Amino acid sequence: MYDSCAKTLFCGKKVVYLPTCHSTNDIAAELVRGGKAVEGTIIITDEQTAGRGQHGTRWLTNKGQNFTLSLVLKPTFLHLSEHFLLSQAIALGIRNYLAEFTRNVWIKWPNDLYVNDLKIGGVLIENALQGTRLAYSVVGIGLNINQSHFSTAISDRVTSLRLETGQYLHLAEQLPRLVLAIEKTYLRLRAGQLESLRGEYLQYLLGFGQTRQYIIGEQLVDGTIVGISPDGKLRLELHPGEIREFDIKEIKWQWVD
Ligand code: BTN
Repeated sequence: MYDSCAKTLFCGKKVVYLPTCHSTNDIAAELVRGGKAVEGTIIITDEQTAGRGQHGTRWLTNKGQNFTLSLVLKPTFLHLSEHFLLSQAIALGIRNYLAEFTRNVWIKWPNDLYVNDLKIGGVLIENALQGTRLAYSVVGIGLNINQSHFSTAISDRVTSLRLETGQYLHLAEQLPRLVLAIEKTYLRLRAGQLESLRGEYLQYLLGFGQTRQYIIGEQLVDGTIVGISPDGKLRLELHPGEIREFDIKEIKWQWVD
């Protein structure tokens, strides 16, 4: 059903398609551990029975309508303290793919994809270490492409490319385009183009340089995102000159409709 990607260097040369599985991230990790997944291997499915999101959440998506895949990477050039650089490159690659279809594509820190303040995709990266370096990373991607109805039980802040553009997209035709966009930013990371990746990430970071409302603890506060720390924490200016760093569990976005 899915062909090997023709235009990439190594990503998507091997594509493992499973009509159904528990989680493509788990399958990918099993394949790497069994020595059966070279770098760039993609595991893609129509349906996950135990799809996982960030922070122990479930990833639910309609069967066969969206991208549900994992990409195996071996970023052995990264120290574990640099894990955010991978997250940044992947989010940017997906953003660049989505921007081929629609405007207003943003990255919500650290690596959620948003269009018009609605979530269109998410990334779950699971790293394995060798000593203090990354040995391999399973990059799990859920991207809403053709789904046109979402249960409000999941979230009311969700969209898909179809809802944004009215276009139906053939997943098998789209996979090589998505993978090429991701490989491009990954290759930039591998080549050490850190400043240009960082600059581009901040350019598309939702809320960067704007005063917005956030929920910290129980409190609603005004803050301005001023950057990301080297270990991937969000830097927020809460009062002039007072910059604090937050990890993902410490801060929530307050949406204003
Ligand atoms: C998020 O919570 O935003 C991250 C969602 C990641 C979902 C993808 S779908 C393919 C891969 N397999 C999983 O079990 N999860 C990721």
